[in-house]
Amino acid sequence: MEKFLIRGGIPLRGEVTISGAKNAAVAIVAATILSDEPCVLENVPEIRDINVCIKILYEMGASIKIIDKNTVRVDPRGISDPVVPYELARAFRASSYFLGTLLGRFHRADVPMPGGCDLGDRPIDQHLKAFNILGASHSIDGGVVSLRAEQLVGSQIYFDLVTVGGTINAIFAAVKADGLTVIENAAKEPQIVDVANFLNSMGADIMGAGTDVIKIRGVKYLKGVTYGIIPDPIEAGTYMVAAAATKGDVLIKGVIPKHLESITDKLRKAGASVEEFDEAIHVHAEGRLMKTNIKTQVHPGFPTDMQPQFSTMLSTAEGVSVVTDNIFTNRFRYVNELRRLGANITSESSTTVIIEGVPELSGATVKATDLRAGAALVIGGLMANGTTVVEDIFHIERGYENIDDKLRSLGADIRRVNDYDSGRMAV
Ligand code: EPZ
Repeated sequence: MEKFLIRGGIPLRGEVTISGAKNAAVAIVAATILSDEPCVLENVPEIRDINVCIKILYEMGASIKIIDKNTVRVDPRGISDPVVPYELARAFRASSYFLGTLLGRFHRADVPMPGGCDLGDRPIDQHLKAFNILGASHSIDGGVVSLRAEQLVGSQIYFDLVTVGGTINAIFAAVKADGLTVIENAAKEPQIVDVANFLNSMGADIMGAGTDVIKIRGVKYLKGVTYGIIPDPIEAGTYMVAAAATKGDVLIKGVIPKHLESITDKLRKAGASVEEFDEAIHVHAEGRLMKTNIKTQVHPGFPTDMQPQFSTMLSTAEGVSVVTDNIFTNRFRYVNELRRLGANITSESSTTVIIEGVPELSGATVKATDLRAGAALVIGGLMANGTTVVEDIFHIERGYENIDDKLRSLGADIRRVNDYDSGRMAV
């Protein structure tokens, strides 16, 4: 298995360009199913979850043309059998988007229960509630969710809790339904606006994406378009935190600063300097950062996907920080690994940890437990004195394009090694 070998203690310096947003791209790639003509998607990140999405479309009969590493043409007209292959889909959460898109186009879908990062309980009851309200029946048998609908009729959907995936799936199922659908208590994340912009560019009629009330008037036909995915706010935030955590000086390019406001606010509170430009953000830090309390919230609050990275940065800040994750029930599995690097963290509950800043971290062998935890442990290795080996980096490769190349371009000493090499190189 591949690992990252990191020699830490080097401040990151230079410029890095952000790739397309994973959590927008997985939804928009699936949304090509709804199109009546071929689509070309640009600024698609070259990451494993996208490759799986594209393979699923291909296995179902779509024709795929990889134009370059970040551009793909999808012609969904060849899809005849809306059944998603079990082994491909069960591995990640985004497979749930095939429920909404196949239902929206074919009025039926058979999709394995979604997998994804183990962050605690991740049901899809709200997705199923939206599908039922629009007229679909559902059953779950052998780990496969099956949807059937004679007709999809626009309706009022009120989500019991704010759900990104549920909101996006409700849009997918409603976009070609008969009549008006109103989604209330909708999620407002940037990827929801990106999905709505993509569908509207094809001729859909979606109003209010980015607010908590979204109105969708069903249309009969969606034309093919060329569409560019937004930059990844979580990848950008990860490099912002890595710059501050290593007392570096980094220009993060190709971003939408508005999407990063909550991260910028917290970095400034921790003592980093953050300067916003039209499409870039400059992060600089020197001296010890200061304790900062974090409570993750739905957008525009502080994103749960930035919690592990920020907590890692706080592990050497001055003072005691309190971090609470209000979104997932078990998003602190990385804490045990961080303790191997010397962090002083106590768990107050399954959703709150107390971080007492230590003067420095020291290198050790750690294991990525999920995507963002893996990114956090890479930041820990960059901060630590000595050598850190991060194992199970396949988690990280699901959502970060060329993370080791990008970090090396910022001066980091990070190498990709396999089991044999790491034993020999770590001595
Ligand atoms: C998306 O997951 C992202 N994944 C996650 O990013 C992100 O952390 C999350 O949104 C929150 O922003 C993708 O976009 C592929 P939710 P999703 O539905 O849609 C509960 C990453 O690191 N819930 O907003 O699954 C759920 O258990 C990943 O890139 C229900 O109870 O998140 C959770 O506690 C990790 N019933 C909360 O709501 C439902 O039907 C938020 O989940 C749906 C969700």
